[in-house]
Amino acid sequence: MNVLLIGSGGREHAIAWKISQSSLLSNLYVAPGNAGTETLATNVDLDQMDFASIGRFVRKHNINMLIVGPEAPLVGGIIDFFQDSEKFEGLITIGPRKAGAMLEGSKDFAKEFMLRHNIPTADYATFTSDNIKKAKEFLLELTPPYVIKADGLAAGKGVIITSDRAEAEATLDDILIGNQFGEAGSRVVIEQFMEGIEVSYFVITDGDAYRILPSAKDYKRVGEGDTGPNTGGMGAVSPVPFVDAEFHTKTVNQIIIPTIKGLKEDKIPYNGFIFIGLMKVGSDPYVVEFNTRLGDPETEVVLPRIKSDLLHMFDSLGSGMLSEYDLQIDDRVATTVILTSGGYPESYDKGLIIDGLNNKLNPKEGIIFHAGTKASRGKVHTNGGRVIACTGLGANIDRALERSYKIVDSINFEKKQYRKDIGEDLRKSEE
Ligand code: GLY
Repeated sequence: MNVLLIGSGGREHAIAWKISQSSLLSNLYVAPGNAGTETLATNVDLDQMDFASIGRFVRKHNINMLIVGPEAPLVGGIIDFFQDSEKFEGLITIGPRKAGAMLEGSKDFAKEFMLRHNIPTADYATFTSDNIKKAKEFLLELTPPYVIKADGLAAGKGVIITSDRAEAEATLDDILIGNQFGEAGSRVVIEQFMEGIEVSYFVITDGDAYRILPSAKDYKRVGEGDTGPNTGGMGAVSPVPFVDAEFHTKTVNQIIIPTIKGLKEDKIPYNGFIFIGLMKVGSDPYVVEFNTRLGDPETEVVLPRIKSDLLHMFDSLGSGMLSEYDLQIDDRVATTVILTSGGYPESYDKGLIIDGLNNKLNPKEGIIFHAGTKASRGKVHTNGGRVIACTGLGANIDRALERSYKIVDSINFEKKQYRKDIGEDLRKSEE
């Protein structure tokens, strides 16, 4: 099977790493990829939003399966482009069509969907610049902190949480009048804050059958103790100890099944991942957000815990046989710590040489996944804010973290930055 994978982050390196182990794979191409995917696949210099060029590549290289990692091409309709053309008949596509990707592409769409299908989530209202006065009045109905979300895709930066009403009002002005997030901020969703602990669930579905991948927790703030600005994610842990059997059953019955049924009732076909950001409030799950892809850096801890063949799972999804697929999970704990460029998530340098990438750990215990990296003239350079995911596996969280941080210490580049407290809160809850 010839596979083209779209994306260039740690998530795509982890997907490439996992499907490279499959006997079903003939050729793997990653567009555009990074220095890590280059060691496993052929990187191809294609723009993820240039569907016509991707299409020409698919035909020229007899691609059988297209896997889409990031959200932007999904929301932009990449799957519709391929599924709606006879030229690509028989191509297996992994990812939802635009109609399904709107669960991530519009917060208002996702909220209406949840309301329609009785899926537990925080109370909310949606506003535009035409009714900004009403938006400010709505703040008075809420108990702070206020949660303000840009409606569209904003690269993880579109959620602002503040207890200060003046700041909340200024945020509404910045987004709705000042165009802080451009078109993505033409509407805002204001939500009631939920007090609890967050966990991410990953479900793969063909619209009927589904499989639940391991749960994970990510660490979004740049600073230790969950301080400072939001990032794409500074680390992750899987499994999450507070996901007990009761919470899992509630999540399946109150959230996962209603979501899949809801898509069907709304006549939205779906072939891909649903990443459900959940808040555990007391002992109950509430949806914080839907994403329509795998998470990053969660993928770097979720996929190392999957024992079965991932490409076989994708093939089963494509051929309507997901219900037959036997998903096997490793009981061990996986942790990942992200090395970032100094200055991230604000401005940072690129092109710095990275040393120490030869993993000295047994690959069953430690894995280096590249994110923002680029190879040139025999060296690997930094090429983004998040640079390397240092994944450790172990019988418990302590062992896994020890291995992650061993990798952290062995890799060096100028202004390397990382959080030293990944998993600390979960270690305490395990004791
Ligand atoms: N780690 C959060 C995300 O992938 O959106």
